[in-house]
Amino acid sequence: MTDSTLLGKHIVVGVSGSIAAYKSADLVRRLRDEGADVRVVMTQGAAEFITPLTLQSLSGHPVAMELLDADQESAMGHIALARWADWVLIAPASADTLARLAQGRGDDLLGALCLATEAPIAVAPAMNNKMWSNSATQDNLNLLRQRSVAVIGPASGDQACGEVGEGRLLEPLEIIAELKQLAVPGRLQGRHVLITAGPTYEPIDPVRFIGNRSSGKMGFALAQAAQEAGANVTLIAGPVHLPTPSGVQRVDVETAAQMREAVQRSVAGSDIFISCAAVADFRPLQTEANKIKKTAGNALELQLEPTVDIVSEVASGDNRPAFIVGFAAETQELIRYARDKLERKKLDMIAANQVGQGQGFGVDENALQVFWSDGEASLPLKQKVQLARDLMTLIIRQFDAKNTTENS
Ligand code: C5P
Repeated sequence: MTDSTLLGKHIVVGVSGSIAAYKSADLVRRLRDEGADVRVVMTQGAAEFITPLTLQSLSGHPVAMELLDADQESAMGHIALARWADWVLIAPASADTLARLAQGRGDDLLGALCLATEAPIAVAPAMNNKMWSNSATQDNLNLLRQRSVAVIGPASGDQACGEVGEGRLLEPLEIIAELKQLAVPGRLQGRHVLITAGPTYEPIDPVRFIGNRSSGKMGFALAQAAQEAGANVTLIAGPVHLPTPSGVQRVDVETAAQMREAVQRSVAGSDIFISCAAVADFRPLQTEANKIKKTAGNALELQLEPTVDIVSEVASGDNRPAFIVGFAAETQELIRYARDKLERKKLDMIAANQVGQGQGFGVDENALQVFWSDGEASLPLKQKVQLARDLMTLIIRQFDAKNTTENS
């Protein structure tokens, strides 16, 4: 059924070498019927089964095949395609393509594109049933699933090789139906999500401040994930050097006090508040108007006062959003401190991560232990963009559960 889920979405369809490649022609046509903008990338193997011209005519764009072709790269190279994509859908995905993806190979266009993209990736496998059930293929799939690659199908039935069993490519309409489920817009459609991200800087004098090592990457990735799920997102960012995720409304602040004010302005009408910022707990009691001069041999004493705990204030306030998520970055006793903060700050969920020694702050990968009143989950080490999507899935599930209980 056509609805607006894929309308205007940029979908890269990857076609690999399988007899089922002929179905990708119909898939491309049907995706365009849904209003999606489709670009096709073929492997060399795919071109043995279907001509690029067919897919070019159906997608309305030249088909990309070569990684090192100057003409193709100047039209839309693998990095440009990787950035352009809202989704990468590989259908059919042969056993060889799954193995290459699992290995992270970048020696052909499709592999390099998958490495370079931050868009979610879905694969629709198609192969002989023995190849499908082979533990090498299943191991590769498990690895891909752990990296948040979605696996669509395969179906069981008669195979082109004359055998019967699992490994048939799903029909194009079935693939599209599953892709729409994965695209989960609607889950947060019409909802407002407020997110804080990054560090705060607390000025000591006009040139110095007290800051911390937060890069803001996790909060920005969460803003992107919430936006992908259809929410209106307001992102209140401390001083960071990151591009604003598309469609997200960003408010830049510097100090904890400014972040508090910005949160207060946006919190009414928010359904979910995710407090990801590493807000300073203390700030200098007074900021010197002029640069503090050193006097030889003398120590300098700074007096600090506590800042207001923004997330606690919101959680106990009149405009409390229905669902509040806090973060706990800890160097020790992660679980105990996280559970304590969940209760003390009156949060609905807390995401805890180990920091220090190259973990957590500043790096691109992270792992989280997530707790809520009657449950918990471990999200293993992943790229922050992928991890944010997994956390958003947990948030949506618990948010829905809380809404259902309160409305029943
Ligand atoms: O107590 P701690 O600073 O470890 O708590 C971390 C959580 O509290 C995070 O969600 C952080 O965004 C939030 N926080 C806050 N305002 C503060 C300090 C922390 O909202 N002043």
